[in-house]
Amino acid sequence: MNSLTLNDHVVIVTGAGKGLGEAVVSGLIEKRLQFPGLKLFLTSRTLSELEALQIKAKSFGVEAEVLAADLATNPVLAIEKCVQRFGRVDTLIHCAGVGRFGEFQSLTRDDLEFVMKTNIEATFLLLQKAFIQMKSQTIQNGLRGQIQVITSVAGEKPFEQSSIYCMSKYAQRGLLEVMRLYAYREQIRILEVKPGAALTPMWGEVTADMTSKMMKPSDVAIPMIDALLLPPSATLETLTIRPLSGDL
Ligand SMILES: NC(=O)c1ccc[n+]([C@@H]2O[C@H](COP(=O)([O-])OP(=O)(O)OC[C@H]3O[C@@H](n4cnc5c(N)ncnc54)[C@H](OP(=O)(O)O)[C@@H]3O)[C@@H](O)[C@H]2O)c1
Repeated sequence: MNSLTLNDHVVIVTGAGKGLGEAVVSGLIEKRLQFPGLKLFLTSRTLSELEALQIKAKSFGVEAEVLAADLATNPVLAIEKCVQRFGRVDTLIHCAGVGRFGEFQSLTRDDLEFVMKTNIEATFLLLQKAFIQMKSQTIQNGLRGQIQVITSVAGEKPFEQSSIYCMSKYAQRGLLEVMRLYAYREQIRILEVKPGAALTPMWGEVTADMTSKMMKPSDVAIPMIDALLLPPSATLETLTIRPLSGDL
């Protein structure tokens, strides 16, 4: 049934080196038969992690370019470098994100600025640049582009210890809802991915009990990749995926 293919698809993945981003990259490589001529543009701050993924991609015959860069200082560089290298951006999968957690009364101005810089300022500027680039492109495989952003269930539900994080995720959701008003008339699809707890480096140390309840990163990545292959006559707008036992 699932016979759709996307030819010569150029995909940028931010936060590609670890966690959910790494799972998305691995999933795309594994699904390469449905992406003939796939070109990956992988970015995060840690070059060694990106290079390991580049080697993995190459071993499966998938072309991958890497960029070690801080989104907080240069949020649009990945789009510029990808266009220079591959000529277009068919899909942006924005996985890079940060959190600072603690009691509401204890979080500091530094915590606030750190999270807002990446989750809000960089996200806005990155998505704006991606939209402008996609809007300028010819239609390929029925679309001008696809944008997927990992927000969180914390973008629609409050969690203790997460005041700054929740605020940033609610804000990302607001941006995506406005962007859809512009994107659909340009044949650009926008998917908000709202995961619950998945076991990634973001969590730091976790107890065995928590580990047993959390999703694997691939649990989130698999439906994201399937959503890229949805026929261009339709759009999946939100994808909420949480552990079967519920939120932690
Ligand atoms: N894991 C979960 O349970 C969960 C649940 C809901 C939502 N999310 C969201 O999913 C996204 C990915 O989370 P994750 O769990 O995969 O986190 P993670 O394991 O900490 O990975 C985050 C990735 O983002 C990159 N990154 C962070 N700040 C960056 C910056 N300023 N510039 C460039 N790259 C940056 C990191 O790369 P470097 O370290 O190399 O810079 C890393 O590759 C985040 O938006 C997070 O809020 C996660």
